Amino acid sequence: MDMLDMKGRDVVSIGDFTVDEINGILDLAQDMVPIAKGERKSNLLDGKILAAFFFEPSTRTKLSFESAMLRLGGSVLGFANPKGTSATKGETLADTIRMAESYSDVIVLRHPREGAARLAAKFSEKPVINAGDGAGQHPTQTLLDLFTIRSEKGKIGGLNINLVGDLKYGRTVHSLAHALAMFGADLSFTAPPELQMPEHVIKDVRSYGIEPHIYTSLDESVHDSDVLYVTRIQKERFPDMAEYEKVAGAYRVDLELLEKAKSDVIIMHPLPRVTEIAPEVDETRNAKYFVQAFNGVPVRMALLSLVLGVSE
Ligand code: NCD
Repeated sequence: MDMLDMKGRDVVSIGDFTVDEINGILDLAQDMVPIAKGERKSNLLDGKILAAFFFEPSTRTKLSFESAMLRLGGSVLGFANPKGTSATKGETLADTIRMAESYSDVIVLRHPREGAARLAAKFSEKPVINAGDGAGQHPTQTLLDLFTIRSEKGKIGGLNINLVGDLKYGRTVHSLAHALAMFGADLSFTAPPELQMPEHVIKDVRSYGIEPHIYTSLDESVHDSDVLYVTRIQKERFPDMAEYEKVAGAYRVDLELLEKAKSDVIIMHPLPRVTEIAPEVDETRNAKYFVQAFNGVPVRMALLSLVLGVSE
């Protein structure tokens, strides 16, 4: 079987892929860049419909999926706000997904509950792509993060990659840590003790022979980093706002901090940022978060064409 035969596959967790499959997706994404930029036209997904069901707020993930689909000649339906849907009447996710399946060819789902995408995949014959399930996983973000690291640094394995901020509730870092361990990166986790990486993720990383370096202060961890992956404190997932107030604003990357870093460190962020990266950093050659956000388009193009089983 062709390594990249992914027709009909669900994408629920980054662990659903092997390293070879990920490299194959990233190679295909590289070929898609001119189409993503609008420099080349494509009708690869002509006649295909994407259902984008977002039960939680999204800017980049939703828009880049839509841009990817439209640039490949496909169409999109869906909602960004569940308030206008039958979910408010008490419809179960299973029933909503059954409907999505009959109106489309591929389903992209974001939901506040961990495990929602896995459940949806069970109820749908059509491929389901997880666009974030609570504090669980965000596999397509990880693919674009890997794409960004590979294109900016030329490799992934062997780099010192420092995940910073809310490692407890941040789903992007849960998926990313797993993938980076598979690629053999050297990992640092910088967070306040109450927001450190969950034990199950640390165990998972260790199973690939990677022992992560644990830090509470960015001042201590920044020196060796090749990649600083900064995240937002996930305010909406805190059961207690007093706990949020204690850690809000705890980590901030600014020009003063950058002086302590390697001159060629790259700074990434899944966005949205709140106060974690000072705007003055945007002008430096280290800042890669906007190009990272663009990379979501070619990467999602590659993934959509693969799970839909359409190739050039
Ligand atoms: C992230 C998410 O939704 O998990 N955003 C994104 O998809 N780029 C990060 C966040 O909300 O902080």
